[in-house]
Amino acid sequence: MPYRKKIIAGNWKMNKTNNEAKVIVHDLILEIGKFDDADIVICPPFTALSIVSEMLLDIQNIKLGAQNLHQASHGAYTGEVSAAMLRELFVRHVIIGHSERRQYFGETDKLVAEKIKAALGAALKPIVCIGETLQQREANQWKKVIETQIRGGISGLDEKEISEVVVAYEPVWAIGTGKVATGEQAQEVHAFARGIFKDIYGQAVSDKLRIQYGGSVKPENAQELLNQPDIDGALVGGASLDARSFTAIVKNSCAK
Ligand code: 13P
Repeated sequence: MPYRKKIIAGNWKMNKTNNEAKVIVHDLILEIGKFDDADIVICPPFTALSIVSEMLLDIQNIKLGAQNLHQASHGAYTGEVSAAMLRELFVRHVIIGHSERRQYFGETDKLVAEKIKAALGAALKPIVCIGETLQQREANQWKKVIETQIRGGISGLDEKEISEVVVAYEPVWAIGTGKVATGEQAQEVHAFARGIFKDIYGQAVSDKLRIQYGGSVKPENAQELLNQPDIDGALVGGASLDARSFTAIVKNSCAK
């Protein structure tokens, strides 16, 4: 089986003031600042990027991520943030197309594709989210949804570009609900998604592509999920807001 280093990312969403961010980052540095078995990314809100960036300056193993960016390089887009602005703060990763952005801010696969290009243009590594809603799962449409999101949002890249991308499968019905997909359920979707990438980009690319799972990941379920052959990491929401639980997820991610 091809080796893919696990990548655990914490998406803080709209949580934590700068003072709160300082406290958790201090604890994370103590606990996992030297943990090297997995890649670790934390994604604070825009307002905390600067302070967290300073704190992580000498920490090799925890990388900084943002939760969104605008697709244009600059201009009259009130309230938006560009790739270059993120890059200057030493942001390395950026979440794109999270289901909350699709649901509340009308983001489409076409926009996702544009944002991926903007991120790559500034040497940011996109973490691109895909996933079906409960209604779509119950109507047995998840395959169609996943395939449409991949072909509409994450195709059209060259081999170098796709190698910078991490994909996150986040079933919308499992986000913040405590309803986690079973390892088997998640594995089925991950294997299906990898098959689509193989069809678009070929075997070598799909073997290397990391696909994270997201949706109610907790210390108790991380190991079962992350031991699945096609699950290469986790995108953690709620449990990333607490240093102890995020640390436990990171450590459990590599336990056999
Ligand atoms: P929860 O872990 O809170 O379910 O959130 C998952 C998520 O949306 C991460 O991006």
